Amino acid sequence: MSKYIYGIDFGTTNSALAIFDQESNKVIKLFSTPSLLFFPEIQNRSVFETFFVGEQAIQEYVQSRMKGRFLKSIKKVLPNKSFIDTKIGNKRYKAEDLVALILLHLKKQADEFLGETIDRAIFGRPVVFDVVEEKDKLAQERLSKAARLAGFETFYFQMEPVGAAFAYERQIAKEEIVLVADFGGGTSDFSLMKLNPEAVNNTDRKGDMIAQGGIYIGGDSFESDIMWSKGTPHFGRGVKEQFSMGKWLDLPLTYFTSICSWEKMNFLDSLRMKTNIAKSYFLSGNDVRVKNLQTLIADNLGYVLFKEIERVKIELTEKDSSLFEFNRNEIELSEKIDLADFETEIIHKNLGSIEAYLETFLQENNIDKNQVDVVFMTGGTSQVRPLKNMFIRHFGQEKIKSGDNFYSVATGLAYSSLVFMKPETA
Ligand SMILES: Nc1ncnc2c1ncn2[C@@H]1O[C@H](COP(=O)(O)OP(=O)(O)OP(=O)(O)O)[C@@H](O)[C@H]1O
Ligand SMILES: [Mg+2]
Repeated sequence: MSKYIYGIDFGTTNSALAIFDQESNKVIKLFSTPSLLFFPEIQNRSVFETFFVGEQAIQEYVQSRMKGRFLKSIKKVLPNKSFIDTKIGNKRYKAEDLVALILLHLKKQADEFLGETIDRAIFGRPVVFDVVEEKDKLAQERLSKAARLAGFETFYFQMEPVGAAFAYERQIAKEEIVLVADFGGGTSDFSLMKLNPEAVNNTDRKGDMIAQGGIYIGGDSFESDIMWSKGTPHFGRGVKEQFSMGKWLDLPLTYFTSICSWEKMNFLDSLRMKTNIAKSYFLSGNDVRVKNLQTLIADNLGYVLFKEIERVKIELTEKDSSLFEFNRNEIELSEKIDLADFETEIIHKNLGSIEAYLETFLQENNIDKNQVDVVFMTGGTSQVRPLKNMFIRHFGQEKIKSGDNFYSVATGLAYSSLVFMKPETA
């Protein structure tokens, strides 16, 4: 058996793989990729399927002038019961088929690096894929199938924040009660653990896991919030259409809820919806904002628009204000966003839900904030300032620690293999 095993963090936005060397007890190499897929439009139906993963998916998508199928946040499909498969070109892809392509992309790089094929891995999973048990189970089953399709024969699942905890554990000098808070693109996960540098090689850590929980809000939700408050008014929210003589009504809300997440925008791309929007355009007296909505859908601009929104969100991590600008295909949009508005007007509802969840999590598990020695914040979204400040308010600045936001889960998953593997000498 190989001395290597992989720790794999399949994320909503980014996925990572850590190679663990069981002999030296170290992570020896890390790989990562954006969790994106692009299938170019197939001109000739007899050609083999082509697809691109990660950075290359973005490049090819933009180069092909946004023609073809571009898939983002695929992890969100895992608990979705109504998603059976999707037809791309002349092939049908189930959720696990899509996920497997991303896993395989990472596995190939790692196998090539080692010069051998590894078929053992620890996979991360969010604490809550879905609050409905049946859907949560379905998500893990699909992830298992994807792992098998990608060539893994022996694999285990570990909660993502537990993975992050194991990574943090290697940095500490004494025993600590740690609240790990992992804020990703799709979910916010919590895990309260007793960590001890002397326990890193123990194979049974059940007694050290105090509590776990999670909520289905992440960086994607904050982007939807920006789109709702600063984007949708430029695409017809607030515009009225003349329903009958002298009777003006707001445009259907579904137009705007659909464009608030990139993947839901497809819903408007049907003939029926496009006809409805064309009708709304006419009935609004050819309002330019409804025209913008038509252009957004017809020219498939969702991804680039959301990329700009993400840029703004990330800029607000560094600066106190950012300019949300989008000038393409005759859509002209420019909105200045201040950090204060971002916090109190734009993301306040989702921020409030995370805060309420944190309180419930602590209460339900009978945890007093004073018992928590350290809060280890990780994941890309942990950098969002209003979110970080909220944790500082609850626990005090001195308790807040951070590490590698994008690799700590994969690294810790790799370390956690010790929990699953029996010692060779036993
Ligand atoms: N500097 C930054 N400021 C704010 N947000 C950021 C920053 N950098 C990245 N992000 C956001 O972090 C998110 C990605 O984080 P991460 O890679 O931890 O998520 P993930 O592991 O893919 O998702 P999940 O764990 O929910 O499946 C994205 O929403 C991205 O926009
Ligand atoms: Mg993550």
